Amino acid sequence: MYPRIVINTKNILENSRKMVALAKDNHIDYVMAIVKVFSGHFDFIDELIKTGITHIGDSRIQNLKKLNKISLPKILVRIPMLSETSEVVQYSDISLNSELETIKKLNDDAKKANKKHQIILMFDLGDLREGYYHSQDYLKDIEEILKLENINLLGIGTNLTCYGGLVPGKEILNRLVKIKNKIEAHFNMRLKIISGGNSSTVTLFGKNEIPKEINSLRLGESIFFGKETSYSKDIQGFNHDNYVLEAEIIECKMKPSFPEGKTSINSFGEKVDIEDKGMMKRAICAIGKQDVILNNLSPIDANISVIGGSSDHLILDVTNTEYKVGDIISFNVNYPGLLHLMNSDYVYKFFK
Ligand SMILES: Cc1ncc(COP(=O)(O)O)c(C=O)c1O
Repeated sequence: MYPRIVINTKNILENSRKMVALAKDNHIDYVMAIVKVFSGHFDFIDELIKTGITHIGDSRIQNLKKLNKISLPKILVRIPMLSETSEVVQYSDISLNSELETIKKLNDDAKKANKKHQIILMFDLGDLREGYYHSQDYLKDIEEILKLENINLLGIGTNLTCYGGLVPGKEILNRLVKIKNKIEAHFNMRLKIISGGNSSTVTLFGKNEIPKEINSLRLGESIFFGKETSYSKDIQGFNHDNYVLEAEIIECKMKPSFPEGKTSINSFGEKVDIEDKGMMKRAICAIGKQDVILNNLSPIDANISVIGGSSDHLILDVTNTEYKVGDIISFNVNYPGLLHLMNSDYVYKFFK
């Protein structure tokens, strides 16, 4: 059945094993695999666990709920909503947090469930997404957190290169180390996990730039696409094109490339710039913008280019090719492309 996304699990597992080894060489003992790009669709989770990763994480509690049976600790990487704390306690072992009110509610729900919930307190080192701002006061809140009977402060963490594009480096990561030292000295305690970011921190591997106190990273794209995210570069020796979208041609005709008559906006309210290339052979595939942002698809056949589309149609220039109705066109997809495709019920997921 089409469209379908073909997922090369062997390549992914190989990447995961390599990443765990590489991380170890860079004193990262806790590799948390962030699997949100699969939107809870998995058939290789048991094998993934065996690659040496120490935690499984997702941004949505619904996805972690589906992974209920796995043996590794599960971590929720989006700050919980106040309205979901009881599910967070039920389906995750650890959550990233930055709001005292939410942490207190997690404590109440953990008490009701007779559980201890672990938290990693997030610090914003300047990227301006989640976390206590590094230069502001946080000790007062931590004092409150440490009084909560059913919450365990497992560690601290940061997220970089997500909103502001802040690139990790020694100086930036030392802000987190400073926070660790301050908390440990002030409360006479030890923080087990110092989580130095996501796949953007992988850029620093082998450069002696990751402070030795950082012992954990939360990694998605670098494992699943073999790509670091500071500069969006392929990591050498890793597998990159691990996902192929296959879509079926439902119409294939010679047509003009430029609309004939007065034009306005398209079905998405956009004014599109269309180049007049004369007559061309155009194919329509049965997939559209409700499944994927079309720019995130790259046709594998270099003779094809994406022209555009609408919610259910993808239009291709197939001039000088032999394609016909019923043929299947293959595309490489990037991380945002896979994220959307895995979330579309209209796209079949095929793990090979
Ligand atoms: C808090 C947090 N940590 C880690 C990750 C993983 O990011 P990446 O895929 O860049 O490794 C994400 C994103 O999914 C995230 O939101």
